[in-house]
Amino acid sequence: MRFDVLTLFPNLVLPYFEDSILSRAIKDKKIEIHVHNIRDYSKDKHKKVDDTPYGGGAGMVMSCEPLFIAIRDVKTQNKGPVIFLTPQGETFKQEKVESLAAQKELILLCGRYEGIDQRVRDTLVDMEISIGDYVLTGGEIPALTIIDAVSRLIPGVLGKEESAEEDSFSASLDRMKEYPQYTKPEEFEGMRVPEVLLSGNHAAIREWRMKNRK
Ligand code: ADE
Repeated sequence: MRFDVLTLFPNLVLPYFEDSILSRAIKDKKIEIHVHNIRDYSKDKHKKVDDTPYGGGAGMVMSCEPLFIAIRDVKTQNKGPVIFLTPQGETFKQEKVESLAAQKELILLCGRYEGIDQRVRDTLVDMEISIGDYVLTGGEIPALTIIDAVSRLIPGVLGKEESAEEDSFSASLDRMKEYPQYTKPEEFEGMRVPEVLLSGNHAAIREWRMKNRK
């Protein structure tokens, strides 16, 4: 799967892929990530990408021109939907993760400042996603969240050990529940691992896990 990220801060995005499970997925060609600096598409001699809002008000708004040029350029390489990350978007849930994982390509547009010119949203953006009901300083963390959540559903991205099917693969809330996990030692500072998990009785272990899923 191919992701293209449009941002004013590529250095906020790139390091995540250097040192995570996703770096292996990139090496194995399961995913491809291209990060584009919106500033590189500015025609302004000072590489300006924003301006004051019409009608007045605080802050700066990201201008049409660099965004139009950048998105159109990326669209020649990536035929997927353009997703704008904004707190005004649809809240990101596991169902959405699954529907995005069914795509071959995605374009993620990160906003900064007070917002982006509405004409970009009206004409080039296909979908708006919020990762939660809070306001971040930009769309970079939301873009990483989407890439991470979507990538782990792509076959071969997680090893067998970390398989997504076992834990949160399903969109259904019930199937997203997880049971408590323990590893060695059997006792730590007086706290014992539940005896049933040490019993070797697989039916009893299954039942205990079903009962204790949260
Ligand atoms: N940009 C700023 N806050 C955001 C959020 N909660 N979700 C997506 N994009 C954002």
